[in-house]
Amino acid sequence: MKKVVILISGRGSNMQALLEAKLPCEIVAVISNRADATGLDIAKAHGIATAVVSHREHADRTAFDMALAQVIDGFRADLVVLAGFMRILTTPFVERYRGKLINIHPSLLPSYTGVNTHERALHDGVKIHGCTVHFVTPTLDGGPIIIQAAVPVLRGDTPASLSARVLREEHRIYPQALRWLCREQVWLDTAGRVAGNRLEQPGVALISPGLN
Ligand code: GAR
Repeated sequence: MKKVVILISGRGSNMQALLEAKLPCEIVAVISNRADATGLDIAKAHGIATAVVSHREHADRTAFDMALAQVIDGFRADLVVLAGFMRILTTPFVERYRGKLINIHPSLLPSYTGVNTHERALHDGVKIHGCTVHFVTPTLDGGPIIIQAAVPVLRGDTPASLSARVLREEHRIYPQALRWLCREQVWLDTAGRVAGNRLEQPGVALISPGLN
């Protein structure tokens, strides 16, 4: 069974969704860069080991990432899952975990990389928004995409209401993506593309606003 370490910075609702999804893996630890991350309490309540590696206690990104990697490797992690982890990782760190490091981002990448995704989507007046799980590469929010979910943007939306609609879908697609990785149904191939043997479904189009 693969060993998984989850990295968080705050609330930890995606982490909680992963902990409660009964995945075919062993979630061995939750690590936060902030001691006050409320997600740490949720992890402890689930009986998961926790650790804090504070970015403030390291001189620069390189030193922080080295310390973080040491803690991760101490748990003998096969997969590293970023769940609201709000630090930009250095290229050596990302390359150390090539094909083993995934992230969830609150937009339909490659649109809206970075922060304030919901505010920017509302500002632009897009009618469809969503979330993405992707492998992490040195390009910020630019790695190969594993799964996405789309939601409509509604007329009265605020950043909070749109964020809540997207977050519900985050909690559905992240466990699915991790399940695929744990079962080796999805992987990063040598060309740096997402490969897999999972079923794809034609599904239906999301049209927003609706046609009638
Ligand atoms: C989530 O919406 C996640 O997609 C986002 O932060 C939130 C964390 O919430 N991540 C990023 O913006 C990463 N660039 P959570 O702590 O409740 O999972």
